[in-house]
Amino acid sequence: MKTNISIALLPGDGIGQEISNESKKIFNWLNNKTNLNIEIIEDLVGGESIDKNDTPLSEKTLEKIAETDAILLGAVGGPKWEKLPFEKRPERGLLKIRKELDLFANFRPAIVFDSLIESSSLKPEIIKSLDILIIRELTGGIYFGEPRGIEKISNNQFKGFNTLVYTSNEIERIAEVAFESAMSRTKKLCSIDKANVLESTELWRNIISEKAKKYPEVELSHMYVDNAAMQLVRNPKQFDVIVTTNMFGDILSDCASMLTGSLGMLPSASIGKKKSGVCNAMYEPVHGSAPDIAGKGVANPLAMILSLAMMFKYSFERDDIYKLINKVINSILKKGYRTKDIFTDKDSLVSTNDMGDLVLKELNNEKI
Ligand code: IPM
Ligand code: MG
Repeated sequence: MKTNISIALLPGDGIGQEISNESKKIFNWLNNKTNLNIEIIEDLVGGESIDKNDTPLSEKTLEKIAETDAILLGAVGGPKWEKLPFEKRPERGLLKIRKELDLFANFRPAIVFDSLIESSSLKPEIIKSLDILIIRELTGGIYFGEPRGIEKISNNQFKGFNTLVYTSNEIERIAEVAFESAMSRTKKLCSIDKANVLESTELWRNIISEKAKKYPEVELSHMYVDNAAMQLVRNPKQFDVIVTTNMFGDILSDCASMLTGSLGMLPSASIGKKKSGVCNAMYEPVHGSAPDIAGKGVANPLAMILSLAMMFKYSFERDDIYKLINKVINSILKKGYRTKDIFTDKDSLVSTNDMGDLVLKELNNEKI
């Protein structure tokens, strides 16, 4: 019997369209080869949506995607829309989905594929077999805190301000997710804050410590964010699961991505509490829309394909599909095929489209 799944596909801007086309190939393959009946509902977000609907995310689109089982998003943003007023910018579309669907837990794994060790700017022994998971709080903190804005305070003086705020509920629910994730891995959790300077993260630290009592098996440590940035580059393998605030997670996950060789390889999952009838998960590559290389067929589609793989693990309990996609990507990389971002002299350079075809070809050699 076929299992019906509906997926909202939001390609977005820049390279978003190209990498989404490669993801569609994988959905088609799954439709043909598994018991899944995947329906793809494509819609607009970001700059594309601004051009057509004068908003980075229309209410109609939000309603439509909220009814699906999961969302796969490409990327948003580009120079064309940078001068727009804040509320109209492409990024607001993405932030609105996160907030409206309450996708508060963002999983950003940084895993080093053996064959990509040479692509990292760090020494091989520092990153070999690295497998860490950054859990970023995604719907609170300074990204959403009020008051915020830019105000005139005198004739030639302005004031720009944002508010870093966390409630104990917000911290508790992300702490729960982090401890559960640590339990499913090596039982090591590092919470990152700036509790020596910012009260909101002092509360963060207190609540995480309190939650630890429920998980005596988990080895919990705390680290200030400045030190953590340094430690991530000095000795990343000291970490397993990291939990941190919205903004610190944004910064540290870009930093962690370079440990793996390329931002073009990093997937992510944003998950909320399960509610019946409302979508609680969005999957997207960590990288941006890369307008400088858009339309040239050089973008790396693997971060989006790996995000699609995460979707089957987290939303549909299909660990077999997650593992299979990871396995074939590993094997393609082992054979030396690389898009431009991870290319070295010893490799075979392939286009965005070729890379998608290679994934298909490898999948066809596999049983599911
Ligand atoms: C990310 C991005 C977004 C963020 C932008 C595009 C709003 O950098 O997902 O890391 O800051 O969260
Ligand atoms: Mg970011």
